[in-house]
Amino acid sequence: MSLKVLINGARGRMGQMLIACAKGDAALEITAQVDVGDDFAAALAPCDAVIDFSHHSTVEPVLARCVEARKTLVIGTTGHTDAQVAAIRHSAAHIPLVFAPNYSIGVNTLFWLTRKAAEILGPGFDLEVVEMHHRLKKDAPSGTAKKLAEILAEVRELQYNDDVRHGRHGIVGERTDTEIGMHAIRGGDVVGDHTVIYAAQGERVELTHKASSRETFAHGALRAAVWAHGKPAGLYDMQDVLGLK
Ligand SMILES: NC(=O)c1ccc[n+]([C@@H]2O[C@H](COP(=O)([O-])OP(=O)(O)OC[C@H]3O[C@@H](n4cnc5c(N)ncnc54)[C@H](O)[C@@H]3O)[C@@H](O)[C@H]2O)c1
Repeated sequence: MSLKVLINGARGRMGQMLIACAKGDAALEITAQVDVGDDFAAALAPCDAVIDFSHHSTVEPVLARCVEARKTLVIGTTGHTDAQVAAIRHSAAHIPLVFAPNYSIGVNTLFWLTRKAAEILGPGFDLEVVEMHHRLKKDAPSGTAKKLAEILAEVRELQYNDDVRHGRHGIVGERTDTEIGMHAIRGGDVVGDHTVIYAAQGERVELTHKASSRETFAHGALRAAVWAHGKPAGLYDMQDVLGLK
């Protein structure tokens, strides 16, 4: 029997892509499409799982309803506050919950490569993350860029909140050895570009991923829902889904 899925944020760019991609997927069926103004709780009852690509401000009620009704939850939305991330972690004690800033296989490979390169190159390389997205994106930096910086911070034993430097403006002084630069570019219809720069004296390594379609995120999120359903309660990410851990 196919998995019955509710899409939250169904009228958005990702919501529409999820609905389109699910049509060719025998493992699941989109049985509810919810957006602003719709009754989430009523739509949820007959479903097995929720895929959320909406807005971070709606995460608390989505978590509460999914925990109460014991539904599998896949969160694709980005831009959550620290308190909202804590609520997501707390809810994962009760239901299988996949939370990933990026559901593409290519970007998850980039996550792996970013860690490996940081380990090999060591502290002599300055680290910068650059992302570019379409002009309508609401949060910055992107969830993917944040995750890349978190990986770099972990390898260097730094803290994301203390050591990431967002943009530079004015007389900022010389770059320190421990800062991780972060730069968000916005324009046009760019689906999502991410580059990690490792710069040293005399050489530079750059790792880049460019998404040209939202299909890759949609297929990944649908795969995550099928994978997670029936798993023990817990917090999973796309590295779990792809078996990269
Ligand atoms: N994790 C990933 O792989 C990935 C990939 C692409 C986008 N995203 C993220 O997904 C989210 C959506 O992106 P998008 O480009 O589709 O945005 P969008 O603005 O096109 O769509 C968002 C939709 O959510 C709806 N929405 C807003 N508040 C809601 C609420 N309270 N309840 C229900 N629906 C609500 C909006 O009306 C809209 O239809 C963003 O946070 C984006 O950063 C994540």
